[in-house]
Amino acid sequence: MKITYSRRRFIRNTAAGSLAAGLTLRSAAEVYGAPAKPAALGGSPVRTKEWPSWPSWRQEWEPRIIEIMRSGRWWRGRGEHVSEFETAYADLLGAKCCLATASGTTALMIALHVLDVDAGDEVIVSPFTFIATYNAILIGKSLPVFADTDPETLTLDPSTIESRITDRTRAIMPVHIYGLPCDMDPINAIAKRHGLPVIEDACQAWLAEYKGKKCGVLADLGCFSFQNSKHLPSGEGGAITGNDESLLDRCHSFHNCGRAYQSCTGEHQYFMRGSNRRMQQVQAAMLIQQLDKLQTETAKRQANAAYLSQKLADQPGIQPVRLAEGSSPVWHLYPMRYDHQAFNGLSRDRFIEAMRAEGIPLSRVYHEQYFDGLLDEAIESRGYKRLFSARRLKEYKESLHHLPGNKQVCETTVAFTQNLLLAEPSDMDDILNAIEKVRAHSGELARGG
Ligand SMILES: Cc1ncc(COP(=O)(O)O)c(C=O)c1O
Repeated sequence: MKITYSRRRFIRNTAAGSLAAGLTLRSAAEVYGAPAKPAALGGSPVRTKEWPSWPSWRQEWEPRIIEIMRSGRWWRGRGEHVSEFETAYADLLGAKCCLATASGTTALMIALHVLDVDAGDEVIVSPFTFIATYNAILIGKSLPVFADTDPETLTLDPSTIESRITDRTRAIMPVHIYGLPCDMDPINAIAKRHGLPVIEDACQAWLAEYKGKKCGVLADLGCFSFQNSKHLPSGEGGAITGNDESLLDRCHSFHNCGRAYQSCTGEHQYFMRGSNRRMQQVQAAMLIQQLDKLQTETAKRQANAAYLSQKLADQPGIQPVRLAEGSSPVWHLYPMRYDHQAFNGLSRDRFIEAMRAEGIPLSRVYHEQYFDGLLDEAIESRGYKRLFSARRLKEYKESLHHLPGNKQVCETTVAFTQNLLLAEPSDMDDILNAIEKVRAHSGELARGG
């Protein structure tokens, strides 16, 4: 039997309601009666209905894909779809230019290259990100220097950037993680003061806005990912956006083996180093056809997230993120900080398990990935030892232990994925009811039943 609780009825009946009335904490059985056991302890879940699946495909998109496949014109040099996507995506973002790439990682690597980040340089970057952000810097044999994460916004804390700038620093790379725009004004101001370019890692921030402008056009270059899980997916894929045409022309050349701008076919010179980071036609055709859907789904996620944030704001032990002033996020994940003390000591992992048992798929977020070994592997390599002094590398390793904001975020944040926000507004109540149910039973859950 499915048991549902309206929020009002729940508050009236739960420990929170009792405490507000000055009464002592009642046991879960008293609150719910025997059948309302948490699902993790054998009770019925709050929700049994499936959440919307991701990604989703529409049959009406197929003729264009099939036409490409039958034509044999599969690469960008022989077709118009990639250029068409670039124009449409630039228009959507209000950017002058866009270059489609093979992935978000390659977009970041190209951006770093054309902004002259070289081996032996340092890049100030957010530690709270998918590992590709670190790797894009490491592959170029430069050093990702982490500024700290603001525990309230989960994005780069601008006040921690300047102390990390050295004479090797060549760029700043903020990450709009989960589609939460960074506070770009102070970041751009610091960059300007030090003559540094800024690359936005907007790989999770399609259509997110900061002070009336879209992420991806808030700095020198913006990089996007269209990997399968993303809001605009084509299996793999990426893009670089910006307003500086000559910079984007250089990106184009670099992603096309170093050929002159746009010369995919025919006679050409190789005037700069380059690589093959091109998007395929079929990927572009998938993306173009999803642009309308991206816009309607973004609005839906935003409305559901706003409802949740408003309802969660007064929940003890659950802290929705604080948004940068003037920002409009797009919620690739919906993250929230969890305080086990407000849940009778129920650990974050047990909270996650209990929520999952109630039918709400919740997860941990990024951990302190800089201790995983990839940075040791890099800085112990021959190349890094040639490029950086032993003193700098020692100091660098030590600096990884001085990211208190990021540590806190990694240890206390939980999140659910964007597809939950594509459900109906009434489905958001299942999330809220599950949190309240778990809270009411948190003592028993913490004791293991
Ligand atoms: C923040 C961030 N940066 C970079 C990337 C890399 O993108 P891709 O997987 O398309 O290479 C991703 C993708 O997950 C990401 O989330």
